[in-house]
Amino acid sequence: MKIAATIAEARALIAALREERRGSAQGNAVGFVPTMGYLHEGHASLLRRSRAESGISVLSIFVNPIQFGPGEDLDRYPRSEKADLELAGREGVDVVFLPSVDEMYPEERKATVTVTGVTERLCGASRPGHFDGVATVVSKLFHIVKPDKAFFGAKDAQQVAVLQKMVTDLNMDVEIVPCPIVREEDGLALSSRNVYLSSEQRREALVLSRSLREAAVLIETDVSVTSRQITNQVTKAIETSPLAEIDYVELLTFPNLEPLVADRELSDLRQSGGSVILAVAVKFGTTRLIDNVIMKLKEAPLHV
Ligand code: PAF
Repeated sequence: MKIAATIAEARALIAALREERRGSAQGNAVGFVPTMGYLHEGHASLLRRSRAESGISVLSIFVNPIQFGPGEDLDRYPRSEKADLELAGREGVDVVFLPSVDEMYPEERKATVTVTGVTERLCGASRPGHFDGVATVVSKLFHIVKPDKAFFGAKDAQQVAVLQKMVTDLNMDVEIVPCPIVREEDGLALSSRNVYLSSEQRREALVLSRSLREAAVLIETDVSVTSRQITNQVTKAIETSPLAEIDYVELLTFPNLEPLVADRELSDLRQSGGSVILAVAVKFGTTRLIDNVIMKLKEAPLHV
């Protein structure tokens, strides 16, 4: 496994591997997993998928300052370079790109990638500028790594929708591959931020996956249930936790992330076989957790 600290090194290492593996049995397609580090089993599952589908596996670890708003957790975002590199080694990563902030943003930045529409609701509404930061850094990383496929976890479902729209609209030659949410045995979605939770907060946070699971069953089994009934049920369930402070509970079309209004209610979407996302963001103390379930209506949930 090679480690690149600069853009030039990353480009040279990946180009050399492309050349070396041309015509080889595993092929020389580049699979890419962009991360902010503090890697866990969710990231490992992305790396395994990348390894399985590509001859060359690239990981980036970069805590991107421009996707954090004022008062967010940039300064205390957890870091663990040594453990991250060990995990990357175990998962057969070929190149780790580990740049500094100065390497990625050497001078005042004048170019920003903005995706409209899908960024209007959910985290786009509660974290202004967040998705500009994500789209800008991912677009820079794509120009550096030049991947054939890039793998992202469905826990950040809005991020996946935003990046999908970015590569489509800007004709970027990379396939965005969404991968299922990885959960602890008790249902908590894996997140680097889970480390901030006290044991009591962690216990209470299970209300998120539980309420989403119950709502998914209702959507599947009650064909006349409305979006308002679903979001009310999830809100009430989360409110039973005294430690939970709800940011949003929303049921939207997926992947366009549009509200379900009268002419696009659950019942209409059922007929057209549309998909919906039920998404929540909830703070436990200073830790903001997100979770979601995406369902193709009439069919089994994609992940619960
Ligand atoms: O999902 C993340 O960890 C980040 O948003 C990403 C995609 C690595 C961009 O900084």
